[in-house]
Amino acid sequence: MVSSNKSSYGIVAIPGEGIGPEVVEASLTILQQVANLEGFALTVDYGLLGGVALEQLGTAFPPETINLCQNADGIVFGAVNQGGLLELRQHFDFFINLRPIRTDQSLLHTSSLRPEKVQDLDLLIVRELVSGLYFGAAGRGTDEKGEYGYHTKHYYDREIRRIARVALEKAQHRRGLLTVAHKENALPHIPWTKLVQEEAVNYDNVTVSPMLVDNLAMQLVLNPQQFDVILAGNMFGDILSDIGGALVGSLGLLGSASLNEQGFGLYEAIHGTAPDIAGKGIANPLGTLNACVLMLQQWGENKAAQRILKAQQRLLEKGYRTPDLHRKQEEIKVNTATFVDLLLEELSLEQPAKLLGV
Ligand code: IPM
Ligand code: MG
Repeated sequence: MVSSNKSSYGIVAIPGEGIGPEVVEASLTILQQVANLEGFALTVDYGLLGGVALEQLGTAFPPETINLCQNADGIVFGAVNQGGLLELRQHFDFFINLRPIRTDQSLLHTSSLRPEKVQDLDLLIVRELVSGLYFGAAGRGTDEKGEYGYHTKHYYDREIRRIARVALEKAQHRRGLLTVAHKENALPHIPWTKLVQEEAVNYDNVTVSPMLVDNLAMQLVLNPQQFDVILAGNMFGDILSDIGGALVGSLGLLGSASLNEQGFGLYEAIHGTAPDIAGKGIANPLGTLNACVLMLQQWGENKAAQRILKAQQRLLEKGYRTPDLHRKQEEIKVNTATFVDLLLEELSLEQPAKLLGV
């Protein structure tokens, strides 16, 4: 992966819809502050995608946005309801989707599991992002039995092999355990296990452990600490990663990086537009912010990344919570704007933190 310390970076922000604009704005404010503190410049261009783009430009995936992104160092994405996102992922061949799931000590009681079950939880879901069920032949038709719809799951062996190599490398640099999600008892023609095992011969000290995805989902809620890196295809990875939200306490906490072979990336929270709270100013900005942390790590701006992680940890330690995380009376419920202001204050206090293990 490229990591390049530069004096100036250009971002394209795609706020999208729902809470997207709120969490992107919050994250950019924090990024700007951290850039000032660490001595690099950040320029931001805004791009349209999805419903907003359809309204204003007549297409959910406008060429203007692609052109902007082409020259950027990273894309910070909010959320869209429908249209544009899958095209964007495919256009730039963002086949690597990294979803780190790590619990914060102050939020253990917020988890769906007992605190001891998620203590020090640190796992990484590596999700294939530009193939599989999301991108196979699809449509609607009619035959003698009636109307029907279909989506087909299609994977080239080479698509599995290339994401396998990424996951193997991640596992090698972490705790050396790679669990492969598959469903070969029902879908035998897509042999994840065999292909990953073949690639694994080039990676010393990694144990590959295939697991049927239904069992894996159960294991994730029974004993998530057994996992290190989980490799999954597009659809399974989507489903499994939401379990991560329950484990850490809120889906609103999790960010992801979607990268191509060149290390160029799209950074987004794993949550969606959250229409129920959109416009209320109470969204948790940490999902998008943690995606931005991954962007900083990808750029090699590790000190900036650590600053944000540490500031966030301290704020949570002090008991500040957006409503999605609020559980106890003694915790202080704050809205997005206040949370961001408090984070800005914390940021200036320098403290080392452990980087996200991607
Ligand atoms: C995610 C989201 C998307 C996905 C949706 C919005 C298409 O759920 O990134 O997890 O399924 O990939
Ligand atoms: Mg999802």
